[in-house]
Amino acid sequence: MIYYHLSSVDSTNNYLKTNYHKLRDWTILTADYQTHGRGRYDNRTWISKRGDNLLCSILIKDKKIINKHNCLVLLVGITIYRLLNKLGLKNIKIKRPNDIYVNGHKICGILLESISISDDIKALVIGIGLNLNQEVFSKELNATSYYLEAKKKIDKSKVLKLLIKTLKEELKKIKPNYQEILLKQYKKDIIE
Ligand code: BTN
Repeated sequence: MIYYHLSSVDSTNNYLKTNYHKLRDWTILTADYQTHGRGRYDNRTWISKRGDNLLCSILIKDKKIINKHNCLVLLVGITIYRLLNKLGLKNIKIKRPNDIYVNGHKICGILLESISISDDIKALVIGIGLNLNQEVFSKELNATSYYLEAKKKIDKSKVLKLLIKTLKEELKKIKPNYQEILLKQYKKDIIE
């Protein structure tokens, strides 16, 4: 695992996608600010106040994980669910495919992208925008943060460490039909 931090970048996902050939498996990139933070659809942006939140992308080159990419979308959602649970938040819901809500407001967005060369997936980039310490959001975003829910601020690096640990735990559990197992196990917490 190798970790980089940039104070500003266009998008942490873009950076890993552009440079994937010279970066190692499990390269983690965080940034204080993104000038072109991207959401899941082409026209969606990810807006995050400078320095307040976790903006993070993880590069995966391990073929064993790449081959399981179908269940990864849900697995990353469940990782965030478990992380927020560990941090003491309640009433967490996974809105499929990959938004995480707390008390009806969005706290996290996940952007999973693949880098392919003629149908062969070379690498995956897991992009996570997790609202931690932001105090105000414009109303139309219907967003929340750890701070707004827990009424206290949190150390971003502590959350990143816990995120990586939780993700590794989840990845270890992958087995055939894991998607169905997860869907059954977390049924009540998943909004289709
Ligand atoms: C969504 O809700 O549509 C997904 C949002 C994903 C945002 C994160 S922030 C870090 C990474 N870099 C990006 O440009 N996007 C993802």
